[in-house]
Amino acid sequence: MKILEKIEDVKREIRRIKRKDKKIGFVPTMGYLHEGHISLIRKAREECDYVVVSIFVNPTQFGPGEDYKRYPRDLNRDIKILKKEKVNLLFVPKVEDMYPKDFKTWVIVEDLSEKLEGKFRPSHFRGVCTVVLKLFNIVEPDCAYFGWKDAQQLVIVKKMVEDLNIPVEIIGCKTVREKDGLAASSRNTYLSEKDREKALCLYKALHKIKEMVELEGIRESDILLKEGKKIIENTEGVKLQYLEAVNLKNLNPVKKIKKGVMVAGAIKIGKVRLIDNIIF
Ligand code: PAF
Repeated sequence: MKILEKIEDVKREIRRIKRKDKKIGFVPTMGYLHEGHISLIRKAREECDYVVVSIFVNPTQFGPGEDYKRYPRDLNRDIKILKKEKVNLLFVPKVEDMYPKDFKTWVIVEDLSEKLEGKFRPSHFRGVCTVVLKLFNIVEPDCAYFGWKDAQQLVIVKKMVEDLNIPVEIIGCKTVREKDGLAASSRNTYLSEKDREKALCLYKALHKIKEMVELEGIRESDILLKEGKKIIENTEGVKLQYLEAVNLKNLNPVKKIKKGVMVAGAIKIGKVRLIDNIIF
């Protein structure tokens, strides 16, 4: 596995690979890799000839007071995982190279970025879209792999690619869950054993909603969300930020659950913020 820090070195390597007409698969990450990332890498490995992973804790997608500084980082551990997964190239850019002092250009996907997560993290998707487009321009992948766990991110990146005619296919991959249902996330490492137990309330709420839809045939969002919110609000030490049923295309709230609807939520346990969703 090649490990490159400099943008120009990555571009040179990509030019060399493109001359051989190889299909490039790309998995952008912020590191501290878990089973969710590994599933994206395996899908890229399956579908492409040459797999690139980036590790970059992107400062511009964190708001003031968020966890940028304490976001978990362990490059040596990540390198071992990536070598085992037979990744061809690891790109680990430096903040000062991605965002030089006179950096002035931002990518904003309007409207979609203001909903759900956007209400609590107003500049988050501006940072995500800007860094993802920069990474696409550097890596020039044929396919890029994103998890459905961050469904709003996936929807927004797809829209950016469509609107800006970016020549990459965006591939969404199923959320990976731990045995008890907790969605895999680098932020799970912040949780004490007790808090991890509490964090399960979001998954339990989503699961309950799924059951009510599939087993009881209840489709009214207000009834379902009320039930889900009850589970979260009755869990001591957990703060519900939102639980919404939205159309997956435009992220607008829907009155009834049907195919193409997502129920998404965010909770806070102390300083730890977790998100999850289910898609119908
Ligand atoms: O999902 C993530 O880890 C990040 O938002 C991404 C896509 C790597 C951009 O920094």
